[in-house]
Amino acid sequence: MKFENAIVLVTGANRGLGQEFARQALERGAKRVYAGARDASSVKLAGVEPIQLDVTKPDQVRAAAEKIGDLTILINNAGIASTGAFVSADAQAQLQNHLNTNLFGMLNLSQAFAPILAKNGGGAIINMLSLLSLVSTPVLGTYGVSKAAAWSLTNGLRQELRQQGTQVVGVHAGFIDTDLTRGFDAPKVSPESVVRQAFDAVEAGAEEVLADEPSRQIHQGLSSSVYLADILRG
Ligand SMILES: NC(=O)c1ccc[n+]([C@@H]2O[C@H](COP(=O)([O-])OP(=O)(O)OC[C@H]3O[C@@H](n4cnc5c(N)ncnc54)[C@H](OP(=O)(O)O)[C@@H]3O)[C@@H](O)[C@H]2O)c1
Repeated sequence: MKFENAIVLVTGANRGLGQEFARQALERGAKRVYAGARDASSVKLAGVEPIQLDVTKPDQVRAAAEKIGDLTILINNAGIASTGAFVSADAQAQLQNHLNTNLFGMLNLSQAFAPILAKNGGGAIINMLSLLSLVSTPVLGTYGVSKAAAWSLTNGLRQELRQQGTQVVGVHAGFIDTDLTRGFDAPKVSPESVVRQAFDAVEAGAEEVLADEPSRQIHQGLSSSVYLADILRG
């Protein structure tokens, strides 16, 4: 799938990685880039078309699908992350919040746009996952559950949508240098690098991106890659 002349929608595109996805989509020759944001007026990137889109709000997702009938690339980037322990009093509320955005948001958008992508020749979906889709860590436990679930959703969508010719790409990374990791003192990969690797993978027909060294090392540790295949079909 090529970006040249593509019609692209990026969720959470007003800042961070989402803004970089939108910027590089334009740079690669996309015909139109819709920048989804909870507050459309917060989109400042020149050349994109802002669209109000809270991924947890079915009416806004429906309106986006009605507006963008020519979509060819969907980028499920919007996400939230907060810290806490599984045994803390608010763990269930935290998990619910993470799932609402990081899992159900992705599912909402994928369901709404899958038929549109099919109609437009297949296209591609990029899902922004995490190193914490692969392993859990104490401080970001409920975030990790949502990203592990989003990884499973991504792998399932890939199998379901293969028949209609939609390429489904999962992108894993550890710490990326955005607002989301501001409080963490750790080595961070740049948004520019993560997006470049993701787009190179889309254009090369690949299905999974390990965008930094920690993700590559953890993945290698898991490494049988059976989740990339449709194991039920044999
Ligand atoms: N930064 C990292 O280390 C890292 C690593 C691996 C994966 N990721 C993933 O990469 C994605 C982007 O993260 P980031 O680092 O760019 O984070 P960020 O700087 O905090 O930006 C998050 C973006 O998501 C948007 N968003 C949150 N909830 C939304 C909703 N319900 N509907 C629509 N938009 C919503 C935010 O909009 P508002 O401005 O309205 O809040 C913002 O635009 C996320 O899925 C994150 O989990 C990040």
